[in-house]
Amino acid sequence: MLRVALLGCGVVGTQVAQRLIEHADDLGARAGARLELAGIAVRDAARPRDGVGTVVPRELLTEDAESLVDGADLVVELMGGIEPARALIHRAIAGGASVVTANKALLAAHGPELFEAADAAGVDLSFEAAVAGAIPIVRPVRESLAGDHVRRVLGIVNGTTNYVLDQMTTHGLDLEEALKEAQTLGYAEADPTADVEGHDAAAKAAILASLAFHTRVSLAQVACEGISGVTAADVAAAQQTGHVVKLLAIAEQTAEGVSARVHPALVPVAHPLAAVRGAFNAVFVEADDAGPLMFYGQGAGGRPTSSAVLGDLVSAARDRLVGGRGPRESAYASLPVLPHDAA
Ligand code: NDP
Ligand code: HSE
Repeated sequence: MLRVALLGCGVVGTQVAQRLIEHADDLGARAGARLELAGIAVRDAARPRDGVGTVVPRELLTEDAESLVDGADLVVELMGGIEPARALIHRAIAGGASVVTANKALLAAHGPELFEAADAAGVDLSFEAAVAGAIPIVRPVRESLAGDHVRRVLGIVNGTTNYVLDQMTTHGLDLEEALKEAQTLGYAEADPTADVEGHDAAAKAAILASLAFHTRVSLAQVACEGISGVTAADVAAAQQTGHVVKLLAIAEQTAEGVSARVHPALVPVAHPLAAVRGAFNAVFVEADDAGPLMFYGQGAGGRPTSSAVLGDLVSAARDRLVGGRGPRESAYASLPVLPHDAA
């Protein structure tokens, strides 16, 4: 039996908790040991929440995240934000637990120190859910393409802004109305500015670029423009010329170095990215030998994201049971990352 500490019972955490309980037999069989949900850390354990008190016993909720982490074999961080998520992950790693996180903001800001700590402790730090929700993209880029030479990664990696732009295009909503809907549907970050201003997409671009080009790309090195300046008139004008507005993340390796950027772009309606609707994401990867690859699916939302989290959790459990580790970060090369104005 492996004890699982869940940090967060919000949009994603609730779905993960429910599946850990409802699918306990299947997950245990796949992992090789029962995954026992030991507790769920929240800010306010008394607050009423969907699924808690029915599927998820209320007694599992605790406001003492540190004690919960201390007794765990596997820690799933779904709180979001920098602190206390960062300190709790360090605590988990120091205590020998394997960690799964969906927290791209944390990884983009503090990934190197966290991966070094996991390396030193010999535990997994997995993060498939941090990029593009349900879409398996981290493993393919990091592992399946490890023998190839990736040239470019391009796509839609933020579900909220894609939903907003789609609603503006197809239903004539303004940005604020569409954003409210995206928040209600559980797509947006706790502070939706991160979505609207492109910071969430930039964090994902930094993670993908680091994996694809085996170099460290920090959030500050990603040129970033969000959709706050996109108006209903812009969307309508794009339509009249046979385009749709999409927020794109682009990371590429050139002869001079790596460049990464996020910005709204006019995409011709015939292009496959124009057909990415709602909170779906799509990522194109171009590699020398593999050629073009396309990854498509639900990029946000509690249930789709729980799929990626639980996949990481089962893998981390399997790794623990054989006394090993899953794939780790590359030994990073010192490929230059181009400044914004050179990109
Ligand atoms: P929510 O805001 O819905 O949930 C956050 C949860 O963490 C809440 O249960 C909250 O407790 C708890 N929490 C926050 N701060 C603390 C703290 N200081 N101490 C204890 N508990 C705390 O977030 P999401 O579920 O939407 O997102 C979680 C993570 O997953 C984020 O990193 C996000 O970027 C990432 N992610 C989200 C996706 C989505 O579609 N929503 C998709 C992919 C990744 P309480 O309920 O008491 O307030
Ligand atoms: N807020 C994020 C998005 C969640 O809309 O894409 C998924 O990472």
